[in-house]
Amino acid sequence: MYVCLCTGVNSETVTQVVAAGARTSQEVADACGAGSVCGRCRSTVRRIIAAELAAAGEAAPAALVAEEAAGWPPEEAAGWPPEGAPSRPRRSVPWRTRLVEVRTYAVRPADAERFHERVVLAGLPLLGEQGVDVVHFGPSETPRDQAVDFVLIRSFPSRRALERLEVELEGSARWRAALGADAADAVVEERQVALLLPVDAVDGLRSRLRGADFTPEAGTV
Ligand code: FES
Repeated sequence: MYVCLCTGVNSETVTQVVAAGARTSQEVADACGAGSVCGRCRSTVRRIIAAELAAAGEAAPAALVAEEAAGWPPEEAAGWPPEGAPSRPRRSVPWRTRLVEVRTYAVRPADAERFHERVVLAGLPLLGEQGVDVVHFGPSETPRDQAVDFVLIRSFPSRRALERLEVELEGSARWRAALGADAADAVVEERQVALLLPVDAVDGLRSRLRGADFTPEAGTV
């Protein structure tokens, strides 16, 4: 059963996220995206959390009770519902979105092969462990004289999920150790842009780029 019409997340996924430790609708939104767009499914998400906890003999945590009491997200809040929101939630493309982050790394030509190898052998597996949806990784099609550009495309259910990854993984000693100082030193310039895209567009991008270089299976985050 679909719980979140904006992101297409079903009740099974929400249940799994609760089993993994989510205890509020915000934590569910962070983990799988359900409730991260228009928010109309948040009360349903909270009911699922409460039912799962009750089945496990756990009391509803204070944070969940507080969320419910506050009625988050408040329907009367300024800017709610978002401009253009359908009067009834529908599973329509504009509302099923992912935050797509595109990073480019300019690498010295002499270091390009080693950088590529470290990312493929160490960086991408770590992202896979975290369930990150890596849409594409590979060299740019645009040649440059003094550098080789690499492109990494990842999609996230929300900006918060991206920010959490940056803090918890990419800021960690484990990440730096896996990539190695030489890979980090090889990067002379790094850029990052992010945009919201319909889920179908992300899947189309993944299909189009599949086979171009390294395109692992989609993760779950
Ligand atoms: S229905 Fe879940 S965020 Fe819109």
